[in-house]
Amino acid sequence: MSFPDGFLWGASTAAHQTEGNNVASDWWAWEHTVPASPARTPSGDACDSYHRYAEDMRLLADAGLNGYRFSIEWARIEPEEGEISRAEIDHYRRMVDTCLSFGLNPVVTLHHFTQPRWFTADGGWLNAKAVDRFARYVDAAAPVIASDVDYVCTINEPNFAALMQTMFSHPDDPGSWGRAGTPLPDPQVAEALTDAHHRAVDQVRALGPKAGWTIATQAYQAVGGADAVLDEYAWPRERYFLDQSRGDDFVGVQAYSRNLIGPDGPLPVPDGARTTLAGLEYWPDALAEGIDLAWRLAGGIPVLVTENGIATADDNLRIDYTADAIRGMQRQIEAGVDVRAYLHWSALDNYEWGRYEPTFGLIAVDRATFRRTPKPSLAWLGNVARSNGATLTRTA
Ligand code: GCO
Repeated sequence: MSFPDGFLWGASTAAHQTEGNNVASDWWAWEHTVPASPARTPSGDACDSYHRYAEDMRLLADAGLNGYRFSIEWARIEPEEGEISRAEIDHYRRMVDTCLSFGLNPVVTLHHFTQPRWFTADGGWLNAKAVDRFARYVDAAAPVIASDVDYVCTINEPNFAALMQTMFSHPDDPGSWGRAGTPLPDPQVAEALTDAHHRAVDQVRALGPKAGWTIATQAYQAVGGADAVLDEYAWPRERYFLDQSRGDDFVGVQAYSRNLIGPDGPLPVPDGARTTLAGLEYWPDALAEGIDLAWRLAGGIPVLVTENGIATADDNLRIDYTADAIRGMQRQIEAGVDVRAYLHWSALDNYEWGRYEPTFGLIAVDRATFRRTPKPSLAWLGNVARSNGATLTRTA
């Protein structure tokens, strides 16, 4: 198996899920103020990566990886409206520099689900000022953080970020939240996120890095002749956002599982199917399907796999899943798709939006001491990286 020269092999994280004590963010507020929220466990210290990021990066680099995707936290950089913390911007600049010093290519995300509490309290993406507010944050942070960075992701999973707006706007209606059988993203929020994205692409490009956003692809599959139902269902939840990537420098593909659509809409995971700790069906081909769809809908721009992984306590299963997913990615490359990176979700067992049980990490984290213990899957992926995919052929 050969991969393009300079292919990035790495792992991904997000600030709120790993840093700890992200107290000025809307999620922190949500974790503490809405008793009915799905955030049953507060994020607390998370993995304490705010202080331990260098150790995280060193473990990835020592294993053989050459890329690391992480996000910067708007709520830390602008904890109150218009009050920009230069110290926090410098913190993230140090993260970029630390990555570079370890030979890890930093892939930086500007918005990964969390936002300042003041922003959400003031209507979030429904406020007419939202796009300007995001642009102001990008103007403050990006010039310092993004120099010497090749890839900047503007907004992570706008299709799910739009759903979070629904959650925060309807705290008393849990029926409107949820991830499986996904609720319809609010169209006004989707439009605001799209505007914010397009503007951020221009802002980032002017500074040098390549810019794109990262989409939660869903590997929708029609059952029982439901192709037309699928098309209608998938457009506002996934395909619209891929289509809006046209003209960007890349599109980030995030893929975990497939979703079946029948004549009456989304279907549950089939009886007897193997499922993961996140309740998703075990379906490594989701990655190949996500790449193929993104390539077609985004008009042939480069693809970065910005997330792919599995919540499991069985690390051998993580290796099997990942090997199969990467083989699917390889088939897409052979078919002509310009894939530039594979960034596994996740570097660490971390805060999975309300709980710690679904363990996606290549590295285990002791919840009391924050001690990191690399799993065999980290060494395995590191060997794949060092050989630029060749070891995968041998074990196939
Ligand atoms: C997401 C997020 C991650 C999740 C991951 C596992 O894309 O949903 O980027 O924050 O933790 O997908 O569910």
